Amino acid sequence: MKHIIHTTLMALLLWACLPAPLAAQKRNTTKGKKTVVAEILEKTTPGDMDQFVSELMARMTVEEKIGQLNLLPGGDVTTGAKKESPLLSLVAQGKIGALLNMKGVDNIRRVQETAVKESRLGIPAIFGLDVIHGYQTEFPIPLAQSCSWDLAAIEQGARIAAKEASANGICWTFSPMVDIALDARWGRIAEGGGEDPYLQARIAEAMVRGYQGDYSEENVMACVKHYALYGGAEAGRDYNTVDMSRIRMYNQYFTAYEAAVKAGAGSVMSSFNVVDYLPATANRWLLDEVLRKEWGWDGFVVTDYGSIGEITRHGLGDLQQASVMALKAGTDMDMCSEGFTGTLARSLQEGKVTMHDIDQACRRVLEAKWKLGLFHDPYRYLKPKRLKTDVYTAEHRAAARALAAETFVLLKNEGHLLPLKKEGKIALIGPMADNRLNMTGTWSVSASDSRIATLKEAMERAVEGKATVVCAQGCNFCNDSLVQRAGGAYRPTPFRDGRQLLDEALRTARDADVIVCAMGESAEMSGECASRSKLEIFDAQKALLEELLKLGKPIVLLNFSGRPTVLTWEAAHLPAILNVWFGGSEAADAICDVLFGDRCPSGKLTVSMPQTTGQEPLFYNQLPTGRPVGEGAKDFSKFSSNYLDVRNDPLYPFGFGLSYTTFDYSDIRLEGRRAAVTVTNTGQREGDEVVQLYIHDVVASISRPVKELKGFERIHLKPGESREVVFDITDDLLKFYRPALRDGIFDMNRMEHVLEPGDFEIMIGSDSRQVKKLKMKY
Ligand code: NOJ
Repeated sequence: MKHIIHTTLMALLLWACLPAPLAAQKRNTTKGKKTVVAEILEKTTPGDMDQFVSELMARMTVEEKIGQLNLLPGGDVTTGAKKESPLLSLVAQGKIGALLNMKGVDNIRRVQETAVKESRLGIPAIFGLDVIHGYQTEFPIPLAQSCSWDLAAIEQGARIAAKEASANGICWTFSPMVDIALDARWGRIAEGGGEDPYLQARIAEAMVRGYQGDYSEENVMACVKHYALYGGAEAGRDYNTVDMSRIRMYNQYFTAYEAAVKAGAGSVMSSFNVVDYLPATANRWLLDEVLRKEWGWDGFVVTDYGSIGEITRHGLGDLQQASVMALKAGTDMDMCSEGFTGTLARSLQEGKVTMHDIDQACRRVLEAKWKLGLFHDPYRYLKPKRLKTDVYTAEHRAAARALAAETFVLLKNEGHLLPLKKEGKIALIGPMADNRLNMTGTWSVSASDSRIATLKEAMERAVEGKATVVCAQGCNFCNDSLVQRAGGAYRPTPFRDGRQLLDEALRTARDADVIVCAMGESAEMSGECASRSKLEIFDAQKALLEELLKLGKPIVLLNFSGRPTVLTWEAAHLPAILNVWFGGSEAADAICDVLFGDRCPSGKLTVSMPQTTGQEPLFYNQLPTGRPVGEGAKDFSKFSSNYLDVRNDPLYPFGFGLSYTTFDYSDIRLEGRRAAVTVTNTGQREGDEVVQLYIHDVVASISRPVKELKGFERIHLKPGESREVVFDITDDLLKFYRPALRDGIFDMNRMEHVLEPGDFEIMIGSDSRQVKKLKMKY
């Protein structure tokens, strides 16, 4: 008896200690209360999504349907007590379909339990986050990843990101970002795969596959963004106007979005900008005609943050009108404008939208929840034990480190200065030398900063017992403290006395054998709202380099950047430059792997690096002009398309990247529609080479780019080894979009994908400039 009383007391005590939602769950289980969702599921033929969604929608009120279209930030749930949180009460009322920016399995579970147990129907919520280049194991920023040209590794990176995110309760990532970016002033160039549509499309497919897999509980739904043309912002200024021809949209900008949705991406995010003078979110042609009808896609469209509200700023009417336009255009979910929840019911009554419009959007959101398996198990992404096994594991970190090493681009290596020997005294100097917060790169919102190694720490580890590392910051990022602060809002680098920093650095480097400079941008000088008008080296860093040069020692520059920066002065004065971008949580070790030769650099630029900012937008796959100057022209040529003060060529072209070994291309040949080349490793060590195929359509019905990437292969060769690399020139590679012909006149609004027989140039080489050419007749 005593024992029974004791056990009951213990149970009651435990019960009282349970957090509120768990207690609620227990109550529900005890009562055996079934949600409406569960009831319908029981009656649904297994696997019949349509039947389930139709039955569910038949039970929903208009308000509940509109609630599904509402996406809000979950920030205050993480702190507010259950009863006081306005969000939880909205969730309980069925007024929120999805949340973003939530962290912590417990927090997310609390919201999910509210949705399932306290809303009338028990519809689970979707939880989204910007998992852009990893969750806690951070991979290199997307621009860097693209420079690996390693699709398998990029796919694996996305798979790992999904595994870690889903272990943390997230089932939806706002990635991949596949906006073509031609203007390096635009900070968000960091988030995409560079300037080339073909490469960006292949990366987009790989990432979608990696994230979504087969929608297991270790996968997340992808969200392709920012549809469309966001990267075309005028003057490289974020959120600015975009205006371009349909021909360019289809041939240059749409390719990657199309590839991503055809790879099965579950959702798409509309962009902030206008397309044809209509905000993308309200652009029916873009969302309905192209995305859904032409590309046959059936996922859901979410706006970007507050985009419906911004439609009013674009000057198209108030929030009600903006919401009507967005819904009618094919937008399904409203991120953070509360335009749909605030106004759609009224618009329905006033006849501005139809029940069909609302139903269609609601159905798409519910279908996404079905695909994610949330109806069958709302808690499938909420298994806390996975936090121990699936996050920041040694295996994940090794994958991130290996990929990071592949992303670094060796731009210059005079006298084989690199790899460095692990001997003597190495002076590590610069604002990135010992800067933990800035190692991972933009969008590392879930990185565990304290666990990330600085370059100094990694270098000391790498050379332990063999060489000495001495380190000094040397300078601020720039002399203007306000610019430094703006470029470090979330990851600040304290602004220090410049003179003192310089003196320290000179003292530190004076008796070193070699100086390694870790410089460039801070992590937040690229990414969202991080446009720059000057891409040249910052004043403070140049002054430091000039002083260090006077010491007469060999200098290696590690250039940290989220965009192509201008390295003209550096290239003229320094013997070795390795562009290291922002390499994620394992960047520091990966840099040492390459710096000391444990790994051979193999990254190739996916963006052209300008000689001066004024050349931007600069990209290799440009149209010919009627007044061309030859590639590599040395002098100004009057009445030709060139500048008075700088030649047209980039400092380093698209596709460029050196290695510690060398490769020779020989015996390029064409057999029918098959092009082949023999690549030989002519150096002393094994290495990877990215063999690139470019095609030029010599005569066509519209002007065609001077060359376009149409294939590539990453190969590994031992010293002296040769490999034949073969490319099949398929019809698809020769096709392009041109306006449809109507009575002999181009209809500029309707595009067709055509192959025009005739002459083609086939080019194969190690970058977009170093190519061997063949002629092909189709
Ligand atoms: C705005 C950004 O443009 C977008 O890329 C991101 O996914 C959303 N904010 C959500 O954080």
